[in-house]
Amino acid sequence: MKARRKASKPWGGRFAQATNPLVESYTASIQFDRRLYRYDIQGSVVHARMLAKCGLLAKAEADKIATGLHEIVGEIERGEFRFDPSSEDIHMAIEGRLIEKVGEAGAKLHTGRSRNDQVVLDLRLYLREEIGLVRRLVAGLQRALIGQAESHLDLIMPGYTHLQRAQPVLLAHHLMAYVEMLERDRARLTDALVRVDVMPLGSGALSGVGLPIDRRFVARALQFRSLSANSLDAVSDRDFVIESLAAFALLMAHLSRLAEEIVLWASSEFGFIELPDAFATGSSMMPQKKNPDVAELTRAKTGRVFGALVALLTAVKGLPLSYNRDLQEDKEPLFDSVETVKAALSAMAPLVGGLAFHRDRMRKAAQDGFLNATDMADYLVLKGVPFRQAHEIVGRVVRRCVSKRCRIEELSLKELQTRFSGLFDQDVFAYIAVDACVDRRRATGGTARATVKRAIGAAKTRLRSG
Ligand code: ARG
Repeated sequence: MKARRKASKPWGGRFAQATNPLVESYTASIQFDRRLYRYDIQGSVVHARMLAKCGLLAKAEADKIATGLHEIVGEIERGEFRFDPSSEDIHMAIEGRLIEKVGEAGAKLHTGRSRNDQVVLDLRLYLREEIGLVRRLVAGLQRALIGQAESHLDLIMPGYTHLQRAQPVLLAHHLMAYVEMLERDRARLTDALVRVDVMPLGSGALSGVGLPIDRRFVARALQFRSLSANSLDAVSDRDFVIESLAAFALLMAHLSRLAEEIVLWASSEFGFIELPDAFATGSSMMPQKKNPDVAELTRAKTGRVFGALVALLTAVKGLPLSYNRDLQEDKEPLFDSVETVKAALSAMAPLVGGLAFHRDRMRKAAQDGFLNATDMADYLVLKGVPFRQAHEIVGRVVRRCVSKRCRIEELSLKELQTRFSGLFDQDVFAYIAVDACVDRRRATGGTARATVKRAIGAAKTRLRSG
């Protein structure tokens, strides 16, 4: 392919030949980094004000720049802006248009700044906002789970290990387990935000800026918590992106687990829940079908976010200091992950909120399968039997019930006393009733109604405090 006639590039001075169009399209990021336009302009307006304050720009020039940039926001938002791949990226596209509009003042905007520190600024402003949105959506899903927990404080279901029925628990306790996972996700995002909220401008291309600039002014105007401390690090650091992706990845893992349970519980085999019609889908062939596609897609979309995390870890692992063009590859995985996480949370919250629980079926499942066997052993422990012996005795009780096809509580007291242990008394039946099993787990973190109520109260307080 023949190289085009030399086009005017901001860096064109050094080149005798025009860029090959293949290179232009291969290296351009404008198709995806255009998303950053608002942050780019927000940063440029403050940068120009700082230059004026430091005497590097006349006040009138800074005003012209600000007005021009605000007009460009309007052009972009009205769809009038031409995003040309020859502009390479959003930074050059906006600067180019500004120069077209305001002339020489526009050509002064890039004083004391490089795209290397500019792009990091944009990304940090973007992530700061998006993390805030994601945190709010996580809180929304937590509220949906808490709402269901509060309306089902007396619904007993089987708790599982190895997907085998294990011990009875409250549905509310099960749902609150997800609220706790999501609380850790919110905390991780808050913590990641500390490292996102750092102002990199003033690092220049790599070594800092030789003109008398004021980094603190910029940080204050853009409400950053701190300044980057090393210019080489600042332009090559994408830890804050990777950390955010790691937090998103774990959040998606939690959503995927919740999604998996919804898929399982909606099956006829479990029959624990009815999906809300508005959040289920049908089959084009089988008229009877009602499918949990929202949960399934959440489960699968998790892979995109894991992939983004691995892609970025891989992109940075071999990079020498400082900026390398490899770093441009941070954007698509990050943008895709942010959109995926927001979409998943937005769909999962109303799905959870709309679930109808089949309480009889859930309770019956908790009553079949000897889920009270541990409590029967505890009963003997309270009468002085060492736990290992009690375990053995109740194991034999269960074996007997399996062969008689009955529940433990259907054996007679006489049979319990003569075949298994003279320590069994009439009160054993009340002791091993599923409600009693649930209600005696009162230690913090347990499934007793009163304890779960307290956990719900604590979760609501945390949500209120942000
Ligand atoms: N589009 C670039 C990126 O996303 C901006 C920085 C480019 N810097 C450079 N020296 N080519 O990383």
